[in-house]
Amino acid sequence: MALPQTELRPMGKPILRKEDPRLIRGKGRFVDDILLPNMLHLCILRSPYAHARIRRIDTSKAEAAPGVKLVLTGEDLAKMNLAWMPTLAGDVQMVLATDKVLFQYQEVAAVVAETRAQAEDAIQLIEVDYEPLPVVVDPFKALEPDAPILREDKEKKSNHIWHWEAGDREETDAIFREAPVVVKQNVRFQRVHPSPLEPCGCVADYNPATGKLVVYVTSQAPHVHRTAIALTTGFPEHMIQVISPDVGGGFGNKVPLYPGYVVAIVASLKLGVPVKWIETRTENIASTHFARDYHMTAEIAATEDGKMLALRVKTIADHGAFDATANPTKYPAGLYSIVTGSYDFKAAFVEVDGVHTNKPPGGVAYRCSFRVTEASYLIERVVDVLARRLKMDPAELRLRNFIRKEQFPYRSPTGWVYDSGDYEKTFKLALERIGYEELRKEQKEKWARGEFMGIGISTFTEIVGAGPAHSFDILGIKMFDSAEIRVHPTGKVIARLGVRHQGQGHETTFAQIIAEELGLSVDDVVVEEGDTDTAPYGLGTYASRSTPTAGAAAALCARRIRDKARKIAAHLLEVNEDDVVWDGAAFSVKGLPGRSVTMKDVAFAAYTNVPDGIEPGLEASYYYNPPNLTFPYGAYIAVVDIDKGTGAVKVRRFLAVDDCGNVINPMIVEGQVHGGLTEGFAIAFMQDIPYDADGNCLAPNWMDYLVPTAWDTPRWETDRTVTPSPHHPLGAKGVGESPNVGSPAAFVNAVLDALSPLGVEHIDMPIYPWKVWKILREHGITE
Ligand code: CDP
Repeated sequence: MALPQTELRPMGKPILRKEDPRLIRGKGRFVDDILLPNMLHLCILRSPYAHARIRRIDTSKAEAAPGVKLVLTGEDLAKMNLAWMPTLAGDVQMVLATDKVLFQYQEVAAVVAETRAQAEDAIQLIEVDYEPLPVVVDPFKALEPDAPILREDKEKKSNHIWHWEAGDREETDAIFREAPVVVKQNVRFQRVHPSPLEPCGCVADYNPATGKLVVYVTSQAPHVHRTAIALTTGFPEHMIQVISPDVGGGFGNKVPLYPGYVVAIVASLKLGVPVKWIETRTENIASTHFARDYHMTAEIAATEDGKMLALRVKTIADHGAFDATANPTKYPAGLYSIVTGSYDFKAAFVEVDGVHTNKPPGGVAYRCSFRVTEASYLIERVVDVLARRLKMDPAELRLRNFIRKEQFPYRSPTGWVYDSGDYEKTFKLALERIGYEELRKEQKEKWARGEFMGIGISTFTEIVGAGPAHSFDILGIKMFDSAEIRVHPTGKVIARLGVRHQGQGHETTFAQIIAEELGLSVDDVVVEEGDTDTAPYGLGTYASRSTPTAGAAAALCARRIRDKARKIAAHLLEVNEDDVVWDGAAFSVKGLPGRSVTMKDVAFAAYTNVPDGIEPGLEASYYYNPPNLTFPYGAYIAVVDIDKGTGAVKVRRFLAVDDCGNVINPMIVEGQVHGGLTEGFAIAFMQDIPYDADGNCLAPNWMDYLVPTAWDTPRWETDRTVTPSPHHPLGAKGVGESPNVGSPAAFVNAVLDALSPLGVEHIDMPIYPWKVWKILREHGITE
C-alpha cells in the first residue's frame, strides 16, 4: 500500500508520488502550455521525397500570406553559418536543406506567423523544385559499390560511416574452429520510435533589451542543450537559459537537439519576440530520431553438453541520413558489447558497421542504455537457438552458463566489469513463481492435442549509469551528475539536480534519499530539475542513469550537509564533535540519548546561532563521477497461447523478476517495470517503421505505428531480488529501462517455443498475427 509523504525514514518505502496531484489535475506545465506576450508560431515545410536535389525554392507567396512575419530557408541559415548543426554523435546534420534532401519529411523551409494556422497555411505556398534522385533504404544495398553516395558533403565517398569492434577476434575464431557445436542466427531489431505522448517542441524567447535567450524545450538534458545551443549558434552560454518544464515522456527521443529548435531560436533572434514550435505526431515519428534498426548475426560456439564457449557478432547499424545517436564518443555502437549478457563466455568478438540510408537520422537509445536493448535481445534469442540445437531445456542451458555469484566483480570478454549479481538465485525464483515444471507438462499435453502454447525466457544483464567520466562523454562533456541542496532556517529543503525526469518520479525518490540522509520527511524536501539557471550542471536523464549518478550525488551532498550539521549540533549540545552521534533522526550525545537536537534545530541554528569558525548557512553541492556503471539484471518469463485460426498470440502470463540493487521506492520501481514491459510488448508484437522502395515512411502516425492500449496490454506479475551495487553510495542500480531491454526476447522466445514442433527457428519482430498465421498455413494447420 502506498504511503503518505509525511513518513519519516522514507528509503525503500512506497511513498505516494509528490508530482501526481499536479499532473492528474491537469496542472502540469508543459512546453505547449507556455504562452508569452507577442508570441509567434513556427511551422516547418518538409520534403515529400526521400532523396532529391533542390533546384529552387520560391518563398514569395508565403511571405505575402496573412500573418506571416518571417520565412526561412537553408540559404538564409547558411548566411549565419547555421544551415548545418553538429549531432551528438560527432556527425553534422542539415537544419534546413540547402542543395538536397536525404529523407522524406526532412526540414526544408520554415514560416513564422501570428497564429499556427497561418503558419501552416503559408508553408503550403512555398514552391520547391525537386529533382528526384535514386533512393537507398536497405543498408546492405547502401554498402554495394555502385550504390548512390548519399552524403556528398563528406570527404569519404561511401555510405559506410564507421567500423567498431570489441573483444578478441583471434581467440574467438580459434574457439569457433575447434568447437563441437556452432549455431548461427540472423536477427533484426526493427526500426521503432520512442513515441512519447508529448511530441517535441520549444519556445525560444530572445529579449533584445536584456540580451538574454530563454529556451523552454522538451529536454531530457537541459544543460547539454544549453551548451549545444551555445556551440551551434555562437550565442554566449551565460546568456542562455534552458528550461525544461514538465516533460510528457522522453524515452530517449528528447535527448538530441532538433532542427526545429535551432530554427525557432534563429527566428526569435531575428524578430526579437518569442517563437513557439510544436511538432505534430507525424513530424515526431517521421523526422525525429528513431531507435534500433540493427541487422545482427550472432554465432555461439558450444560443447555438446551445453557449455557456451565463445560468441561472435556482426552487425549492420542503419543510421539513416545523419549519424545522430546520443552515444558516448568512445562508443559509436553504444554499450552493444554487453552482448555476452549473463553468461560466462571464454571469448567474444563483436563488430558493428554504421551505414547511411535515405531515412530519418538516429538512432537514439529508446529506453535503453545506448544499444543494450539490441544486445540483450540478440543474446537471449540466440541462446534459445542453441538450446533447440542441443535439444536442451532453455532454462537448463541458462543455468549451466550463468556467471556465478562468486565471480563478481566479473570482467566480461568485451571488457566490462560487472559490479554484482546472483543470476541463479533470481532465475530460480522466477522459475518457481511461474511454476515452470507444471507449465512444461501442460505444454506437452497441449502439443499432443495440436495446440500451440509457449514459454519464453529472457535472463538479461543491463549496464546503466554512465559515466565514469574517464571513458564516457557527450560532445566532449564528461558524464557525471550533480546535486545542490539548501536547507532553509526552518528545516525545509530545496534540492536541485542536474538530471531531468520525464515521468520517472524524481520529485519523490530523490526527496526520499535526501529526507532519509537528513532525518526529515519527504514533505520537507522539494526537488527541482530542468532549469539551467538554477540547477547544477548535469548530463540529464536517459539510459537509466539518474539513480546511479544524480541519486548518488544527492546522497553524498546530503551527507556533506550532515557533516556540517554535526559541528553545529556539537555547539548546541555543548560537547565535542566526536561525542555527537547521528541515529538517522537526530544528533545526540554519546551515551546520553536523551540529550539530542534534530536537523530542524540545527538548521535554525545555522542561520541564528553559529559558533565561531563555522560559516553560517546550511547548503552544499556535489558532483558525482561514478567509479563504474551499475549492472541491474532480471529473469523474465512469458507464457503464450497461439490462436490457430488467426495466428494471434495471447500473452497468458508474464512474470518479471528484477534486481536493481537497493530500491528507493518499490511502488515507483514497479510502475517503471509495468511501463517498460508494455513498451517491450508493443515492440515484440505491434511496432515497426517500414519504408517502401522510394523511401516513403509507411507508419508516420499512430494509425499505422501502433501504441498499445490498456485493452491490449497483458497483466504483469512482478517480483524482485536485491543484490546491492557495491560501489553506489546507496547500493542502488538503475531500473527504468530494464523491462524494455529484457522483455522483447521473452515474448519472441515464447512464440518460437510454442511453434517449435513445427521446426520454426526464428521470426523477426514485430510478430504480427499474419506472420504466425502464414507459418501455420504453410504447415497445413490452418486454412
Ligand atoms: O534515469 P531514470 O530516472 O530514467 O532511471 P532510474 O535511475 O532507473 O530511475 C527510475 C525511477 O525509479 C526513479 O524515480 C528512481 O529513483 C526509481 N528507482 C528506485 O526507486 N530504486 C532503484 N534502485 C532504481 C530506481
